[in-house]
Amino acid sequence: MERQKRFEKLEKRPVHLDGFVKNWDDEGLVALNGKNDPTPSITIENGVVTEMDGKKKADFDLIDKYIAEYGINLDNAEKTLKTDSVKIANMMCDPNVSRAEIIEYTTAMTPAKAAEVISQLNFAEMIMATQKMRPRRTPMTQVHATNTLDNPVEIAADAAEAALRGVPEEETTTAVARYAPMNAISIMVGAQSGRPGVITQCSVEEADELSLGMRGFTAYAETISVYGTDRVFTDGDDTPWSKGFLASCYASRGLKMRFTSGAGSEVMMGYTEGKSMLYLEARCIYITKASGVQGLQNGGVSCIGMPGAVVGGIREVLGENLLCMSLDLECASGNDQAFSHSDIRRTGRMIGQFIAGTDYISSGYAAEENTDNTFAGSNMDALDFDDYITLERDLAINGGIMPITEEESIKIRHKAGVALQAVFDGLGLPPITDEEVEAATYGSNSNDMPKRDMVQDMKAAQDLMTRGITVIDVIKALYDHDIKDVAEAVLKLAQQKVCGDYLQTSAVFLDGWKCTSAINDANDYKGPGTGYRLWEDKDKWNRLENVPWALDPQKLEF
Ligand code: 5AD
Ligand code: CA
Repeated sequence: MERQKRFEKLEKRPVHLDGFVKNWDDEGLVALNGKNDPTPSITIENGVVTEMDGKKKADFDLIDKYIAEYGINLDNAEKTLKTDSVKIANMMCDPNVSRAEIIEYTTAMTPAKAAEVISQLNFAEMIMATQKMRPRRTPMTQVHATNTLDNPVEIAADAAEAALRGVPEEETTTAVARYAPMNAISIMVGAQSGRPGVITQCSVEEADELSLGMRGFTAYAETISVYGTDRVFTDGDDTPWSKGFLASCYASRGLKMRFTSGAGSEVMMGYTEGKSMLYLEARCIYITKASGVQGLQNGGVSCIGMPGAVVGGIREVLGENLLCMSLDLECASGNDQAFSHSDIRRTGRMIGQFIAGTDYISSGYAAEENTDNTFAGSNMDALDFDDYITLERDLAINGGIMPITEEESIKIRHKAGVALQAVFDGLGLPPITDEEVEAATYGSNSNDMPKRDMVQDMKAAQDLMTRGITVIDVIKALYDHDIKDVAEAVLKLAQQKVCGDYLQTSAVFLDGWKCTSAINDANDYKGPGTGYRLWEDKDKWNRLENVPWALDPQKLEF
């Protein structure tokens, strides 16, 4: 066939490298309104749920049982199930109905009712609703700091720079699992050098991750996965109860935590029971609520390719974020995984959360170049900083990342390198040379770093665990090397776990260790003139007004 030249050109556009699929309800390849999704219902007898979403108590699977016992506010459930879903959806996006009033309904729905309510909203209405339902008034974002060589100095420098750019939470993981304790220490020391109060985590296997937290190397955890069907849970050797237990372990040590879920995991694992992504995700959100956990990282997350491939999937993803927040849970709203080759499409994917504002617009903006992202790439990375910041400036939106100058970057990256050098020396780890500190100060990715002896580093990382090193040793090392301000910051962080204020919903630390959460920074949006307005947040507004690449017309010489 003779090719039509425009079609030939279109085919070469990046969007055609992405995968797309038509709906197949019976295999769960459907974003919402699946043909096998249950019809909402609830029967309560003597305070016990005896029937839910068309299933009798005797037929409940583990997830149904867990949700029915702990996840739903039964006082309001019958009233809520009788209320028209269109009406509840309307209340959600109507600025005249308060957030508190809606929570009465949304915490009393069943998973099928929740999916039905969310399905009523179009994308613009979801943005309206999200703006109001976000628990914390001030929107923020979270970053990744990783690199493919697990280079500790690079992690610390990237963490420090991101902290200066204004994020309250930072996450690392490993390229090689045995590095975990070293990476956890590197991101913590880097973040505290950047801005005291930034909390950090290291996403690894669950038992190891808990151990890192108990030693004080991390301040929160997030990748505690929950799933929407029993079969997927079973394959991960888990149940809702084992996750609930893990949640309590973190709480027992004063560590903040949230669960992780997101559309597409059940499709990827092959056990959807023929249900839609939104219905299965609604179950995950209610499991989170049932566990007493303060928040959830959701919105496809690592499985975003699945909702990204089906029709209306990106709308569903914003819908599941909205549902999370509507259950009064902190929401770290995905945007943390590369899913498209198209720059237009990856901007479209994040625009809902970005415009509305969520607790963390991205649950992992890559503060490193994506080639160094051991979470397999994020939707946006360090090389997108200036585009992202320009969008914030254009739309007058606080997307959680602020501009800094080149001088500020150099200074803070250097500070983090020196602090980590001291810690490595104090803990008897393989030394960090001055040359490495310089390279991390001026470098952009791990190729810019001198090579370290990775076998030696790995052994030293494991040795940290067997030697019983804790955060106290890190503080001592900093103090002994006369890096008193970072020592003080790491000590303060450890103290916060004793005090526990930051276990409240959506809690972060702002400057001066001001614990800011849905308790003392509750979202009070009620329409124009209310809620968070960037231009009333003077410091951030000024920073965006004065991006280094904006000309000052008063100072131009002609
Ligand atoms: N559902 C559940 N857990 C997820 N994670 C990422 N995406 C999902 C999802 N859709 C968790 C996994 C992974 C970590 C990065 O986040 O635990 O290892
Ligand atoms: Ca994350």
